[in-house]
Amino acid sequence: MFLYYSYSFILTVALTFSGLPAKVISATVSSTVAQTFLGVGGSGAWWPHDLFTFPDSVRQNLSSLLFSESGLGLSSYRYNLGSGGVDVSNPVRAPQTPYVSAGVYNFSADPQGTYFLQQASNFGVPGITMFINSAPAPLTSNKASCAGQFVTGSGAAYATYMVDVAEHWREAGINISYISPMNEPDNSFGPIPCGQEGMLVEPSQRAEVVSSLWNELNSRGLSSAIGILADETSSTGVAPTEYPAWLPEVVDMVAHLVHHAYDFPSDTNYLAYVNAAHAASNGKTTWMSEICCSLGTPAGTGRGYSQGFDPTINNALMFAGLVFQSFVIGGEAHYDFWTLVSNAIGCEPLSSSTCATTPNSNGWTDGMIYYDPDYATNGNHELYLVKHFWTYKHFGNFVKPGTQRHPVTGSDANEYTLIVSNSTTYNVIAMNPNATASTISLTFPETVCGTTGFRTSASEDFATIAAATGSGSAWSLPLSATSLTTYIFNRKAC
Ligand SMILES: *[C@@H]1O[C@H](CO)[C@@H](O)[C@H](O)[C@H]1NC(C)=O
Ligand SMILES: *[C@@H]1O[C@H](CO)[C@@H](O)[C@H](O)[C@H]1NC(C)=O
Ligand SMILES: *[C@@H]1O[C@H](CO)[C@@H](O)[C@H](O)[C@H]1NC(C)=O
Ligand SMILES: *[C@@H]1O[C@H](CO)[C@@H](O)[C@H](O)[C@H]1NC(C)=O
Ligand SMILES: *[C@@H]1O[C@H](CO)[C@@H](O)[C@H](O)[C@H]1NC(C)=O
Repeated sequence: MFLYYSYSFILTVALTFSGLPAKVISATVSSTVAQTFLGVGGSGAWWPHDLFTFPDSVRQNLSSLLFSESGLGLSSYRYNLGSGGVDVSNPVRAPQTPYVSAGVYNFSADPQGTYFLQQASNFGVPGITMFINSAPAPLTSNKASCAGQFVTGSGAAYATYMVDVAEHWREAGINISYISPMNEPDNSFGPIPCGQEGMLVEPSQRAEVVSSLWNELNSRGLSSAIGILADETSSTGVAPTEYPAWLPEVVDMVAHLVHHAYDFPSDTNYLAYVNAAHAASNGKTTWMSEICCSLGTPAGTGRGYSQGFDPTINNALMFAGLVFQSFVIGGEAHYDFWTLVSNAIGCEPLSSSTCATTPNSNGWTDGMIYYDPDYATNGNHELYLVKHFWTYKHFGNFVKPGTQRHPVTGSDANEYTLIVSNSTTYNVIAMNPNATASTISLTFPETVCGTTGFRTSASEDFATIAAATGSGSAWSLPLSATSLTTYIFNRKAC
């Protein structure tokens, strides 16, 4: 014990007196802007089925946690229009559809999904997408909500349905502004009984889906109010190989090319995907619209689709790294996480006080907010926020639609520094994946004034911290070990 203290004391004195500064990283903020951001969000699948049954106070709290600035401040919400769940074995993943028969609808169907759609609208979420895993069962090849395929020639009927539903909600005051008619068309999610809805749409069939939808929107004067997102292929490696089969025919009808990233590409491969997508589409913007379920380190090693629940700062920074990859490496304008809320916590929160904060191998890392899978029997309606909630909040709160990215240059510049501006403010979102503290010495293209900061680390959840220090255009931004920090600057002198 004595020896331990002596050693520790000597070490502390030595470090203090040697005055070793934290590692300093110098970088310069470009005066010219790159992309203009369109949104940060996630999907309303499949948790609405369960959360709809929670007490109203919890549903309100959840809506606020997702959609208000005091929560994640999401600017994008993806409402899952169900197919009816025919032959899907998991009831949570089997949303009802309003489709009864051609032109006949029951808009009271799926009260769960439409409740949270309404909440997103009430909170003023500006970008609402209606996405679809499968056409209504009666329209698919096997009359089921999975394991079948889009029927060639059924595009007009499918489009009438989609636009009827979108128009219904728009008339009710909910501004659905995008439709994604085929989520992961590369997978039917069979065999029956299926774990979720899905409909294979062969690459050669995708142009019919897009053109039918565009024609229907256009005939109702909605083609500028509702954009078409396609094709939500699961991986960045596969999507470009399929573009030649459908995209040239309908490229002018697609608002944004959206993709998932379940292949967890390297930076080089991510950029190669974006370049290929631009080349295939005359430069359409690309969106990353679905991701979840990876373990891995803050610096990004060990990424890959896998089971395992890791609610800690390590995994939250790994996921933050994916957002930086999309925005900084890919230059993309929009990012959506997958399910936002999950019951795949992999442990029993009522019997273990550390369940929600400790990694386990039974659960999945697919949520920002978790709930007890046994809520219906044990009455536990608590919402468990994991570190991912707090890290994603930095992007939800500070990367707003209309803000623009300023590239960072200099030999120390790295992909984990994201700088966005609007007319009055710079927000600097910077990650330190390393186990030692460092400081960014940042030079702005104009005089600015550091006003405040927010930090998420192992011990802090979006804690308010001191503003960056400096003057004029030169500022120091301390980054503590294994953390994500946002520093705010006014675009004027202090
Ligand atoms: C419409 O759907 C709701 C919710 O499932 C159901 O209660 C109701 O019976 C349906 N109405 C008709 C006419 O089928
Ligand atoms: C829907 O969009 C219209 C037109 O842009 C706008 O006037 C209205 O406020 C929006 N409604 C909501 C709920 O966002
Ligand atoms: C909302 O849920 C969070 C997370 O469980 C909790 O910390 C907070 O107290 C709740 N707020 C209200 C108003 O219930
Ligand atoms: C600019 O961004 C800041 C910080 O995110 C925000 O408080 C402010 O309202 C924004 N200003 C405008 C004009 O959008
Ligand atoms: C983290 O460590 C890497 C490798 O040494 C270094 O390049 C990077 O600048 C460090 N980042 C921060 C924020 O300290």
